[in-house]
Amino acid sequence: MKTFFITDYKDYELTWPRSSRPSARGIILIDNISDYSTLAPHDKIALAYSTKHQFYKFPGGGIHEGEENETALIREVEEETGLEVIPESIEEAGLVSRIMQSELFPETIFVQDSFHYFCRVKMSSNGTPLIKNQNLDDYEKDDGFELRIVTLDRAITTNLRFKSDNQAKLDMIARETLVMEKLCGLEENLPRAFAQALLEKCVAKNPGPWREHSYAVAQAAEKIARATQYLNPDFAYTCGLLHDIGRQMGYTYLAHVYDGYHFLKNLGYDQLAKICLTHSFNLHIIEDYIGKIDITDAQYEELKTLLATTQYDDYDRLIQLLDSTCGADGTKNMEARMNDVKERYGYYPEGKWKKNFELKAYFEQLMGRDFYEVIK
Ligand SMILES: [Fe+2]
Repeated sequence: MKTFFITDYKDYELTWPRSSRPSARGIILIDNISDYSTLAPHDKIALAYSTKHQFYKFPGGGIHEGEENETALIREVEEETGLEVIPESIEEAGLVSRIMQSELFPETIFVQDSFHYFCRVKMSSNGTPLIKNQNLDDYEKDDGFELRIVTLDRAITTNLRFKSDNQAKLDMIARETLVMEKLCGLEENLPRAFAQALLEKCVAKNPGPWREHSYAVAQAAEKIARATQYLNPDFAYTCGLLHDIGRQMGYTYLAHVYDGYHFLKNLGYDQLAKICLTHSFNLHIIEDYIGKIDITDAQYEELKTLLATTQYDDYDRLIQLLDSTCGADGTKNMEARMNDVKERYGYYPEGKWKKNFELKAYFEQLMGRDFYEVIK
């Protein structure tokens, strides 16, 4: 089975023993979709909806000892939704792995593999799915799960608004949402509450003005994306919020680019990791970095190659522009911010300075509006 993504928290020692809990989950196709590999955001699927917390998830659950994956899928889908999977329709979709320190056992690595399968269910003559009785376990009953047939983009939009203080729930919903986004080729949008919780957790490791700077860039990015009428404001916000996430490792320079990129890569967020990589290099060259080269030669070469093989898009350009505009004190003035950097580091490359003005003019053309007017 191919891998959708791996979320590796890297909070364990490799020598620890492993415990695992595999599960099978159904991507239940309702529309007349012939090619499973190219789902569209408007395609309808059957999902479990929590009436208590207002989120969607793929029906499924734990595979019993010795049980075949497909058997577990059929059993779990029926228990959770009352739907009857047609065994012949089952096709592999993708694997999502989560690797982290076990919360139950000390010094143990917990591996959670979720095997996702495309499938179809028995229908009634009026074109709606046949529904037998649901058989929820206690925690599922508490969440008030019921079957809903919705488009993928409706489910994603609903999940992005999900708010909770419960980190395990936030993690689970972020995972389900990312699978939905990958299925139909959308941007890696995280539920806002999850992205904020992630930032706060990282800021707690290394408190500093980068927190306020990250929020300032996020808010400005959202406004500009909305004003362009084609960039996704939610994704732009997340890009802004997490672009400096590498600062969690300490007071670092080029290392924050390297660390941020790998941190988000390890969580399965490739597009957001790309923002960490590109945000300091508006001219697309690593030699332009303002600040100490505090990574090894091998890491420097790795970054250089990554940059050279990465194509910039408007989200990269947007965060480059706003990183050079937003201060940690809430100010939003490009020249003041660049002068502040110049003062702190003793120089500011001329080409880089000029490029920021070009980026500002570029986004003003896309918006048909004044840059400062939009972000104020
Ligand atoms: Fe940065």
